Amino acid sequence: MLQEVREQPAALERTLAGELRNVEELRERFRNNRPSLIVLVARGTSDNAAQFGRYLLEMATGIPVSLAAPSIVTLYQRPPQLRGALVVAVSQSGESTDTNRVLEQAKADGAMTVGITNEAGSTLARIAGHTILVRAGKELSVAATKTYTGQLLAMYLLAYALGAPVELDTLRRLPAAAESALSLEEQVGSLATGYRDMQKAVVAGRGLNYSNAFELALKLMETCYVVAERFSPADFLHGPIAILDRAFPVFLFAPAGVTWTLNREVLERFGQTGAKTLVITDRGNAEAASAAHGIVIPADLNHTGDLPVDVYTPIPYIIPGQLLAAHLAVAKGLNPDQPRTLSKVTKTL
Ligand code: F6R
Repeated sequence: MLQEVREQPAALERTLAGELRNVEELRERFRNNRPSLIVLVARGTSDNAAQFGRYLLEMATGIPVSLAAPSIVTLYQRPPQLRGALVVAVSQSGESTDTNRVLEQAKADGAMTVGITNEAGSTLARIAGHTILVRAGKELSVAATKTYTGQLLAMYLLAYALGAPVELDTLRRLPAAAESALSLEEQVGSLATGYRDMQKAVVAGRGLNYSNAFELALKLMETCYVVAERFSPADFLHGPIAILDRAFPVFLFAPAGVTWTLNREVLERFGQTGAKTLVITDRGNAEAASAAHGIVIPADLNHTGDLPVDVYTPIPYIIPGQLLAAHLAVAKGLNPDQPRTLSKVTKTL
């Protein structure tokens, strides 16, 4: 897992270089055939990447985006009508049975289909009308890491293909941002030791980093067996905050930009409960970077342009979380590469 976490800058670079031509073709296709709705379908980590896609695509293209509920197709057999929609399936293996079934059904219904996968020869790549290939290299660890950030990158590429103001030159800076996050490994490794006895946690993130809250919680659950609840800080205030007490572990993704106003307030509320809060941020958010307990990526990740300030934070921000999960598993005497009862591909309907 750790090795694959460290491979991310190279994997991102490879995906960008390898997919540009393909994405330009897709852009050409969408120019004459713009979807009126986007539906994303995925499971697990890939579903977390889809959650990011939901925020990015909707805000960058203005096209409404929804996440599919696969059982409506696979179990209830009452598929929604998706003609005119773009249906995007996300799966690192390309072999998630329900994800593929939903895509197949959408295609039969006349929807445009795109597959985002790490496996060029997969069932998903065969079904999808168009594939954006994540070129992360074979992912051996059960816990997906480099394919997650690759899928996030694929979402930026898809947004670009749909005419969003995503600049390719800005995307080219993402591998360096990932490298900058990786430079924190030693610090995160020693932090992890302090969490050795952690059995429960809350992970919070809002907007473009909501998906990262889900993803860090998933990594903590599957590799460290920590019961990790994930929230938007906004939802958290509507009740769940009552679970916090002295030393309750909380992780908060805190970029600069529109989400910081509420995050700052929430951080103060966490402080009043005595919770043990760790903030994941970057130099672009000076206030968060000066918080007592923080993992500060040593780069200014603020975006200036047509998209929000925090638009390019999710890829670098998840990396300290991946490092924390991998090192914490080891600190707990667990093997993050072999979580109990899990295998790499899960087939559900
Ligand atoms: C978690 C993990 C799983 C997979 C899920 C979907 O780290 O790897 O949650 O993401 O089983 O698998 P794919 O992406 O192959 O469809």
